[in-house]
Amino acid sequence: MRTPFVVGNWKLNKTIAEALALVTELKNQLGAVKGVAVGVAPVATAIHSVAKRLEGTQIATCAQNCHWEASGAWTGELSPQLLADAGASWVIVGHSERRQFFGDTSESVGKKAAAVIQAGLGAIVCVGESLAERDGGRTLGVVDEQLAGGLAGIDLAGAARLVIAYEPVWAIGTGRTATPAQAQEVHAHIRTRLAERYGQACADGIRIQYGGSVKPSNAEALMSERDIDGALVGGASLEAADFIAIVKAARPA
Ligand code: 13P
Repeated sequence: MRTPFVVGNWKLNKTIAEALALVTELKNQLGAVKGVAVGVAPVATAIHSVAKRLEGTQIATCAQNCHWEASGAWTGELSPQLLADAGASWVIVGHSERRQFFGDTSESVGKKAAAVIQAGLGAIVCVGESLAERDGGRTLGVVDEQLAGGLAGIDLAGAARLVIAYEPVWAIGTGRTATPAQAQEVHAHIRTRLAERYGQACADGIRIQYGGSVKPSNAEALMSERDIDGALVGGASLEAADFIAIVKAARPA
């Protein structure tokens, strides 16, 4: 009922030439894959070239972050409108690295997510707990707080272009993946909260990606869980073969 969505978050990696080499391979090899939506999130300087190279394909170009204002005196920032102008159709907001190192808060993530939807793009809103929060039994409370802030400005109509990414911080770049059962528990909880906010029918259509050390070897088990609808892939998305294997693992059985 939900088409899985697999996005490669390249983080701070790849020159324009390297980015083009990778998407050309993805374009050639994923052209015929059915039943999975695919996206790549290059560094901002490569968005335009990548989007041009992917024109006419089903692979979406995504941005990794944005500002909430459309224009003005905001030195160094990029608005959803300008990212769209460069060719992006999705923006990731609230990634844990933004929250941890660049001061993003649930409130600012909410403003960014609302701005993305307002600009006509899709928003991938990231949530996830730290290891201390998980060990302290606070996982669901943290996720609730991040969802409440992150979705504050998105109404029912906007929710049609909303994707949630559950990324436990302790699983990002660590090689330590949440077990399918651990992830499913949080995904089911997120869907309950989405149903409270938008109604069950809408919540049933919202994709919830899992992120955190997703690899070809664990992708299929994760994505066979009922509420896991794709993946936000970091390290393994930098290599065509690994990313393609993950996309194929996301195909509905
Ligand atoms: P890794 O797949 O490298 O753990 O990164 C996950 C992530 O942060 C994707 O946004």
